[in-house]
Amino acid sequence: MPKWLKDAVFYEIYPQSFYDTNGDGIGDFNGIIEKLDYIKSLGCNALWINPCFDSPFHDAGYDVRDYKKVAPRYGTNSDLYRLFGEAHRKGIHVLLDLVPGHTSEEHAWFLESQKAEKNEYSNRYIWTNAAFQPAKGFLYIGGETERDGVYVLNFFKSQPALNYGFLNPEEDWQLPADHPDCVATREAMKDVMRFWLDHGCDGFRVDMADSLVKNDDQKKSGTSAIWRNVREMLDAEYPEAAMVSEWNGPEMAINQGGFHMDFYLNWSGNGYSSLLRDYESGEEDHSFFKKDGSGDIMRFLDEYLPRYEATRKNGYYCLITCNHDTKRPKYNLDDSELKIAYAFLFTMPGVPFLYYGDEIGMRYLELKTKEGGYGRTGSRTPMQWTNEKNAGFSTCPADALYLPVDTAEGAPSVAAQEADGNSLLSTVKDLLRLRHEEEDLQADGDFEVVYAESGKLPLVYRRGSLLLALNPSTERVSAPVGEADAEKKVLYAIGDGEVKGQEITLAPQSFVVWK
Ligand code: NOJ
Repeated sequence: MPKWLKDAVFYEIYPQSFYDTNGDGIGDFNGIIEKLDYIKSLGCNALWINPCFDSPFHDAGYDVRDYKKVAPRYGTNSDLYRLFGEAHRKGIHVLLDLVPGHTSEEHAWFLESQKAEKNEYSNRYIWTNAAFQPAKGFLYIGGETERDGVYVLNFFKSQPALNYGFLNPEEDWQLPADHPDCVATREAMKDVMRFWLDHGCDGFRVDMADSLVKNDDQKKSGTSAIWRNVREMLDAEYPEAAMVSEWNGPEMAINQGGFHMDFYLNWSGNGYSSLLRDYESGEEDHSFFKKDGSGDIMRFLDEYLPRYEATRKNGYYCLITCNHDTKRPKYNLDDSELKIAYAFLFTMPGVPFLYYGDEIGMRYLELKTKEGGYGRTGSRTPMQWTNEKNAGFSTCPADALYLPVDTAEGAPSVAAQEADGNSLLSTVKDLLRLRHEEEDLQADGDFEVVYAESGKLPLVYRRGSLLLALNPSTERVSAPVGEADAEKKVLYAIGDGEVKGQEITLAPQSFVVWK
């Protein structure tokens, strides 16, 4: 386990929209370099940058055309190497986004694979034996290639699935996972990883990490075996490199696959969604952090606690504010609600991830799709730095922007919130400072629920020697606590709270930490 993860707080950057330094309307590596001090000022000491590799951008870069070359619109490979160096000088680690499950249909491997003549890459992707033989049970494309066969997709039409084999092959075109050509796919991906690690990258966020071996069993034992093999390579060659999976199955990703971290993702109706985005379940929104207090923390804890307990010895189950695939938390929560929500997310075990712009409460915008974003596009708009032209993101004409900036009256900006000690941004900084100062609050510190009742408030929990309580609602609430807790002193508070005897009382919309 890389030691630096213990106190890591990640900042996710969608590079298209972070900061444009050459006036072409799209963000770039130099822009990220210029803003490293800002990222540091937040209390973030690690970055996850969404795919920044050469791509036709049918899925915002998740359709990689060349794994070892950056997309020219962000700069050059040398610029990215410089970004690694500058970030390291400031104590910031950098994860790139590894997309191992599929490539772009324009990747050189696929161009070879689709040729009629057999070659080294014929089995790099999954093909049936004839254009009229469907790949039953899969999304597939036929009729587009000189090769007589159909190929399997992993996501959009532009993303053919790489071939890591099948756990239980059922057709003669399905190769077993230990077939030399499937092993070659895995080794090719390790080669990509080594390339970036050798140039100074600190690890990877892994896209659709659970999607490699097809016809896998429920426990994903085929796919996990591949990741274990990758972890062995990392432990031997790059012991400080970190891996976080897009999986949302920590028992599989962490315990079996050897990932250091796994994301708790927003799956409609799941525990994480019930905290911030309950509207996704299609019913009335009872998100726990809404101030009407109608949420139920047990919807989260019942799912989270067993997973946390099962994996805490081996890795970190991580909470996110949002990501480039979800609606921003500002969609249904105002800043007063977000403060309490972030207080929770940033004081929980595991490694927190803050999506760019969530620190100022950027809004989700209703926009036409861009680069395969569809409903996700509205969470990918330019970072709002100032109240000047294009929100200070770019000097280009407004119609040349990658996506429009939020021009709403009162749209938040970094400049305005930096000047306001009571802003969401200031609260984020205070919370992250507290996390860095108190070892008990960090990734591997103990976590114990003190008071959590279905449909009731507050939520009270311990992190090591610290007592924490939060009340998202506009009512005063109280709960029983331990005898010794009355001795503790308030270390940090949003709002107000007190421990008297064996009772804790919290004012409306409050979060308090006692030590
Ligand atoms: C998950 C990524 O987060 C998403 O943005 C992408 O479209 C799919 N994987 C396919 O790579």
